[in-house]
Amino acid sequence: MKYIHTQIVKIDVNNIDHSALKRAGALLREGGLVAFPTETVYGLGANGLDDRAVKRIFEAKGRPSDNPLILHISHIRELDRLVASVPERARMLIDRFWPGPMTLVLKKADLVPDQVTAGLDTVAVRMPDHPVARCLIGYAGVPVAAPSANLSGKPSPTRAEHVIEDLQGRVEMIIDGGDVAIGLESTVIDVTSPRITVLRPGGITVEQLREVTGEVYIDPALFNTGEEFIPKSPGMKYTHYSPEAEVVIVAGKVDKVVGRIRQMAWELEQQGKKVGILATEQTKHLYDRGVIISAGDRNYPGTIAARLFGMLREFDKQGVDVILAESIEEKDIGLAVMNRLLKSAGYNVINV
Ligand code: TXA
Ligand code: MG
Repeated sequence: MKYIHTQIVKIDVNNIDHSALKRAGALLREGGLVAFPTETVYGLGANGLDDRAVKRIFEAKGRPSDNPLILHISHIRELDRLVASVPERARMLIDRFWPGPMTLVLKKADLVPDQVTAGLDTVAVRMPDHPVARCLIGYAGVPVAAPSANLSGKPSPTRAEHVIEDLQGRVEMIIDGGDVAIGLESTVIDVTSPRITVLRPGGITVEQLREVTGEVYIDPALFNTGEEFIPKSPGMKYTHYSPEAEVVIVAGKVDKVVGRIRQMAWELEQQGKKVGILATEQTKHLYDRGVIISAGDRNYPGTIAARLFGMLREFDKQGVDVILAESIEEKDIGLAVMNRLLKSAGYNVINV
């Protein structure tokens, strides 16, 4: 890939420099690549109506071309021209959860280029809830196609430094708006049929969705690796969120999990391996070897969601060979945490 000079622009979320964001918006509209913060993770944006600009996203990330992108809008009125129709069930979800970490898959309108949807007849749309993202999209004046701003396969970026690590020299601009709030991507929901189906768990929990729409299904492929389960969200089939180190999840009752990880850490060190332990506030003091990092508080899975991707990158910085990770309860945002952790581990789980 040709080296591109990357401008890094710091924006104070509490005192937004609108002239800088207007320049960034113009750059986007004219075909440039601009990484920007959202409340979930950083996104890598391009003009979503310009197929050449969209193609550049795939090149910059090394992303497989059959994995479709999300179009980001700054106002609900921008939805109508992107989709064939908006069913009532989608309206209900939009009223409750936009702006926010929810992506809806709807039948696409002809206006949306095939590069965005990877040739599917549906399109994923999200209205983010982050002042920098909203202003930027507004100033661009076009829907902004944006995957997470990481190299394909790496953990999604939750702060500008992660984006710089992965994409400096590959994009025109990186907007540094500080740490994101949620730390995991949006919930992707297929609303094209009455059977509302979660294709990717995320910032809006299944429990929250059920309060609004009653029954919600979860794509069974999410928790199975067998060939017979082909995920409906193309992106879910790829290796993802993978640090350089091998990740092993230990699942079960907490005290047993700790016991097994202690034993495994000792064995691995005997083999000359450098071990990382992804612990929690409740357990971190129970370990005494390896690089021990607390992901957050088990009673507040949101704290773990916020730190998970950053911690996976941190273990790489420390040069560990193997990461032993405690599982957490798949409740509320814990479902999305475990989904990402399982993928980063290639579904390598030891049940105790
Ligand atoms: O929070 C997020 O969603 C972030 C921020 C930047 O908005 N974006 C993000 O994009 O995570 P990405 O490209 O990393 O993930 C998009 C997911 C992929 O799993 C993709 O396969 C799925 O959405 N997707 C996109 N269009 C789809 C469609 N038409 N049907 C089914 N799944 C779709
Ligand atoms: Mg991604």
